[in-house]
Amino acid sequence: MGLKAVCPGSFDPITNGHLDIVERAAQLFPGVVVAVLENPSKRPLFSLEERVNLIRAAVKHLKNVEVECFSGLLIDFTRRIGSNLIVKGLRAISDFEIEFQMALNNKRMAPEVETIFMMTKNEYSFLSSSMVKEIIQFGGDVRGLVPPGVEAALKQKYGL
Ligand code: PNS
Repeated sequence: MGLKAVCPGSFDPITNGHLDIVERAAQLFPGVVVAVLENPSKRPLFSLEERVNLIRAAVKHLKNVEVECFSGLLIDFTRRIGSNLIVKGLRAISDFEIEFQMALNNKRMAPEVETIFMMTKNEYSFLSSSMVKEIIQFGGDVRGLVPPGVEAALKQKYGL
């Protein structure tokens, strides 16, 4: 793999919005590493292992994509794998403030690491892992919003 772009997130769980960004990054760069944040303080629905496995299943068709987990600072992980590129998706204006803050803090700590943003597809601009969990938990339909394996895993988690 040549230059690897890092696509970071909590992915609790991965949605089709995340997947769209990973697929587009995989077309633009020789390699993509999906970096899954451990962060136990967020009390995720899916364990780290479950999140990694769900992502691996969802990106199986993308030969230049690998999935790894990290804890601590994203820039340290990015440097450790020999990358200098972080790729993230931007949905609405509401994403901008936090993403801007993170990008600037990361730039201060690691000037050689660049963060670039891709606009989400229109159809996913309202989509988030939290919304998906809320919808399915109360009996709503999430088909088309998450990969099929994720829908099945969510149903199992909520005993549906
Ligand atoms: O899917 P999320 O929860 O929006 O992803 C956020 C993530 C994992 C990209 C962000 O929280 C992160 O990079 N965390 C690692 C800790 C870190 O590097 N923080 C410094 C940013 S200023």
